[in-house]
Amino acid sequence: MKIFVTRPIPQAGLDILRKAYPHFQMNMEDRVLTRDELLSTVPGLDGLLSLLTDRIDAELLDVAGPQLKIVANHAVGFDNVDLKAATERGVLITNTPGVLTDATADHAWALLFAVARRIPESENFLRAGKFKGWGPLMFLGGDVTGRTLGVVGAGRIGHHMALRSRGFNMRVLYTDEFVNTTLEQEVGARKVGLDELLREADFVSLHVPLLPSTRHLINATSLRKMKPTAYLINTSRGPVIDEAALAEALRAGIIAGAALDVFENEPAVYPGLLELDNIVLTPHTASATIATRSNMATMAANNLLAGLRGERPENLVNTEVWGKHRR
Ligand code: GLV
Repeated sequence: MKIFVTRPIPQAGLDILRKAYPHFQMNMEDRVLTRDELLSTVPGLDGLLSLLTDRIDAELLDVAGPQLKIVANHAVGFDNVDLKAATERGVLITNTPGVLTDATADHAWALLFAVARRIPESENFLRAGKFKGWGPLMFLGGDVTGRTLGVVGAGRIGHHMALRSRGFNMRVLYTDEFVNTTLEQEVGARKVGLDELLREADFVSLHVPLLPSTRHLINATSLRKMKPTAYLINTSRGPVIDEAALAEALRAGIIAGAALDVFENEPAVYPGLLELDNIVLTPHTASATIATRSNMATMAANNLLAGLRGERPENLVNTEVWGKHRR
């Protein structure tokens, strides 16, 4: 079997692959492969372990060839994969759900506190030697305890982000296609429309997948519906927010602040955002804990091996491919 891993992943995943296929190939440099490099490595592959930074589309699948059985994506999100093209070609696509839920929900809270209490901004002030003594007007921020949390998308990660609000005695509103009965019972969350959530929430936290219907869900119009004292947190996918509109809203005081882990044109960040103080930015690290990344690598490697053995991988995303080609 010819296998390729597009970038070094945690050892636990590599050990699983090595045990089954001692001669698997990997890009040894810790960087994203260029499109040309990626295309030049895929011909003849049976299995590919990809990252969210690798675009898996019809062209790549055709260059790889009809023997390609599986692309195991080392991420829960799979908007980098053209599922339809994969399904048409009988290629299994897998992701890594569940193992990064807690780490990502935790990071959303880290961002929420960082922006509300102005942690990076005030730390920079201190490190620059500007702290000359306690000041009654220094770095005043927003309250968290007792405020309203608005969770946009109450799937796995949104649900667990919302559950953590129990410690802060918050009112929870959520939007979702489905009623989340557990969330309603456990934190008294109320399902509302997006407009009501934007109007009412002191913190709006995004947890939707990137779909045509969620691209620029947060734009100039939706930002204007938020309170001027509200904060926006995004650990989902960058293009859910129109970054130019967000930069303008932050500059004009339409909302109080934002904290982003993901960006519209990653790794680029809209220049207008970088100039602002009322924003906290992290480099797509919401799942970046030692244990979580190790679990993601293990899951992706196990998915890959199952697909290569002709078994149904546990985290198959395009389930219809199974019925179609592998009955
Ligand atoms: C990270 O963004 C992931 O989808 O796993």
